[in-house]
Amino acid sequence: MEELVSLCKRRGFIFPSSDIYGGLQGLYDYGPLGVELKNNLKSAWWRAMVFDRDDVEGLDAAILTNPLTLKYSGHEETFTDPLVDCRKCQSRWRADHLDDGTCPSCGSEDLTEPRPFNLMFKTALGPVDDGSSFAYLRPETAQAIFTNFKNVVDSTSRRLPFGIAQIGKAFRNEITPRNFIFRVREFEQMELEFFVKPGTDEQWHQQWVQTRLDWWADQGISPNSLQLYNVPANELAHYSKATFDVMFQFPHGLEELEGIANRTDFDLGSHTKNQGDFGIHAKVMANPDSNSKLAIQDLETNKWIVPYVIEPSAGVDRGVLAILHEAYRVEELDNGSKRTVLAFKPHLAPIKVAVMPLKRNHEGIVAKARSIKQELQALGLGRILYENTGNIGKGYRRHDEVGTPICVTVDFQTVDDDDTVTVRDRDTMQQSRISVPDLPAYVKEYFR
Ligand code: GAP
Repeated sequence: MEELVSLCKRRGFIFPSSDIYGGLQGLYDYGPLGVELKNNLKSAWWRAMVFDRDDVEGLDAAILTNPLTLKYSGHEETFTDPLVDCRKCQSRWRADHLDDGTCPSCGSEDLTEPRPFNLMFKTALGPVDDGSSFAYLRPETAQAIFTNFKNVVDSTSRRLPFGIAQIGKAFRNEITPRNFIFRVREFEQMELEFFVKPGTDEQWHQQWVQTRLDWWADQGISPNSLQLYNVPANELAHYSKATFDVMFQFPHGLEELEGIANRTDFDLGSHTKNQGDFGIHAKVMANPDSNSKLAIQDLETNKWIVPYVIEPSAGVDRGVLAILHEAYRVEELDNGSKRTVLAFKPHLAPIKVAVMPLKRNHEGIVAKARSIKQELQALGLGRILYENTGNIGKGYRRHDEVGTPICVTVDFQTVDDDDTVTVRDRDTMQQSRISVPDLPAYVKEYFR
C-alpha cells in the first residue's frame, strides 16, 4: 500500500485533500492522471450498463436529498455504525473494527459500550441555519433512482425488467476512515437498480452476480483476486433479502469491492403512498408523505406490481484502488535494473499514447510530433500526450510507471527519410517502425 500511495502522489494520481493545510481525514483529490483513470473506469461501467444493453436507462440526480426520502428509506433510523469511546485517551472507534476490545491508540481496555452513530452528513438549506430546513448529503445514489422511478417509467414507457443506472458522489461520516481511498467520507458509486417481476428476482440476482464478475475481469482484475461472500442474514442491510459481496484482495486484506443486493420491493414500497394495495414487503412503514405510487402495470394481467430490485453497487474509488493494485508491478530487467509498470488494460490507461520528439529543438521533428499528436487525438480514444523533454529513455520509464500503453518517437528518420516512427509497447518493451500514414489505424486497432 505504501508504494502505491507514494506512486499515486508522485505521479499525480491521488493527493490527500487540503494537503497544504494538513489534510482532512478521509478525503482525497484525484490529480491529472487520477481523474483520467477514474473517468475511464466510470465510462467503461456506463458503456457496459447503459450503451451495450437495451434494458437500462441513465440518471444523474441531485446530491442534496430531502430528509423524507432518507426517513422512508430507513436510513435515518438504521444507517449507523457502532461507536465506542476510549475513556483513557478520548479517541473514538468503530466497535466492529476493534480486534481484541482494546483501544488501537493507547491499548486501554476502558471503552464505553457501543452506541449507534448515524453516518449521514446534514447541511442547512437557505440562509437561516436554525435546524428547521436541512438536507442530507446522500449516503448512496440509489434513493434518487427509486424516487425518480415513476418519472423514468412515464418518460420512457419501460416495462419490466429494466434498470436505471447512476454514477455519482455519496457521503458517509465514517468513524474511522482508513486504508487510503478504500474507506473515505466522500466517494463515488456506480449503482444500477434493476427492476424485475417478484418471483424472478432470485434468478436475476444470480445473473447479475456473474455479469459483474465478468465485468471486473474485463477491467483487468484477475478472477483469482476476487471472492464472493454470501452475506449472512445477521449482517444484511435493512433493505436486503440476500447480498453477495464481491471481495477483492486489497493491499490491506480481502475486503468488499462491490455489493450485489436483492433489495426486494422494500424501497419502492417504502416511498409509495397508499402502500398495502400492492402486497408490498412487510418491513415497510406507512407513508403518508409521498404523493406517488411507485408501481408498474403488468400488461398481461393489468395488475399493479411493485417491482423487486436487484442492485449491483460498486465503489468507484475502491475500483480505482483495486485496478492500481492489480496493475502495479516491479520487473527485474536483463541488465539488472528494475522498472515499475502499471499494466492497465488499454481502455483504462490515463494516457493512451505519448508522442515524443527525439530532439527538443529540431523544428521539423517537433512539428511532425505535434501533428501526429493532433491526428491521434482526433481518433477520440482518450488523452494523447505530446511530450517534449528530449530524453526518450526517461520518457519510456516514466510512461511505464503511469501505464501509458504506447510511446511514439519521432526522429531524424521520420522527417529526413521514410516517414516512419518508433512505436514502443509498454508491456513487451518491443520497438517497431510504423509508417506515419498507418499509425492511426494501428492505434485504433490497439485500443479496439
Ligand atoms: N446502495 C447500496 C450501497 O450503498 P454499500 O455496500 O453500503 O451499498 C456500495 O456501498 C459500495 O460503495 C461498496 O461496495 C463500496 O465499494 C462503496 N463504498 C461504501 N462505503 C464506502 C466508503 N466509505 N469509502 C469508499 N467506498 C465506499
